[in-house]
Amino acid sequence: MQSERGGKKLTIVGAGAVGTAAAQWACSKNVAQEIVLIDIVEGIPQGKALDLAQTSPLCGYTGSIKGTNDYAETANSDVVIITAGLARKPGMSRDDLLAKNVEIIKSVTREIAATSPDAVIIVVTNPIDAMVYTVFKTSGFPKERVVGMAGVLDSARYRYFLAQALGVAPSSVTAMVMGIHGDNMLPLTRLASVSGVPVEDLLTKEELDAIVERTQKGGGEIVQHLKTGSAFSTPGLAAVEMAESIMKNQRRVMPCAAYLQGEFGITDVFLGVPVVLGSRGIEKIIEFELTEQEKEALALSVKAVKEQVAATGI
Ligand code: NAI
Ligand code: 2OP
Repeated sequence: MQSERGGKKLTIVGAGAVGTAAAQWACSKNVAQEIVLIDIVEGIPQGKALDLAQTSPLCGYTGSIKGTNDYAETANSDVVIITAGLARKPGMSRDDLLAKNVEIIKSVTREIAATSPDAVIIVVTNPIDAMVYTVFKTSGFPKERVVGMAGVLDSARYRYFLAQALGVAPSSVTAMVMGIHGDNMLPLTRLASVSGVPVEDLLTKEELDAIVERTQKGGGEIVQHLKTGSAFSTPGLAAVEMAESIMKNQRRVMPCAAYLQGEFGITDVFLGVPVVLGSRGIEKIIEFELTEQEKEALALSVKAVKEQVAATGI
């Protein structure tokens, strides 16, 4: 689909911390010719989009960016990143948060499905593994066009911590986190490497265990510092990296929450697995043999996600 300006169109739903960071990264990386930032609060997306538009002479963004409260402006987007929703507040249980965000996600999805029926939807709102399932069921989109962002963020954290311990450039570290976006996520130490050299040959088991644990609790560590919010810069960039691979048909391989129908022996659940992201969305799920220990860890993820999905009532 061509936008009015002849290039790709990206919509970001939710002009909060993550949505704004995503819009900023999308401008600075020139990933789309048209970017639309939409929120339920009047004025916020308009003001943020105008501020971001004024970065263009400095960052070299050549497209347009518009803020709106009207879904008509988002029509015919190629990719939609959904960040709309509440963050947990004091006194609010995870179940309260889930119940509120399910309703927000359902209403946003209905609007997007009606205005951008051919889009690929990238879901960011937490609890992500249940929200992406909600978007899938509500939109009626094929499974290839609904994908959750978490693994790219968790893997970036894992790579950064490994690089710090090794004293090497983070970009030289290849590592992947599979499974749920939560304490049961599975950082795959066995497959982590520095330019092909296994990290298990370079760091002790104790060092690696500590890095795995810090990765699993990576979101919480930032919340503890911020107190009033959660991470936004890396989440925003992670979603934009996915959007870029789709809009530019780069076919990059990233760990994303994908709908599984037997892959890794798992059915009817969205879970973080390596996928190929291209113009049709998830073009392929890359399946490979897991060890018994890894299978057990992944089973814990599946159990936790299924409990979350059950709580959505979807
Ligand atoms: P935020 O509170 O800064 O922004 C949320 C925005 O959503 C607000 O601007 C709000 O007005 C908007 N919103 C609420 N209802 C809406 C609706 N019906 N339509 C359109 N917009 C609506 O929150 P933040 O920090 O941007 O986080 C957003 C979500 O992303 C949260 O659920 C957070 O937990 C999640 N998150 C997920 C990550 C992941 O790895 N999947 C990483 C970081 C955050
Ligand atoms: C994170 O991992 C809160 O999910 C968010 O930073």
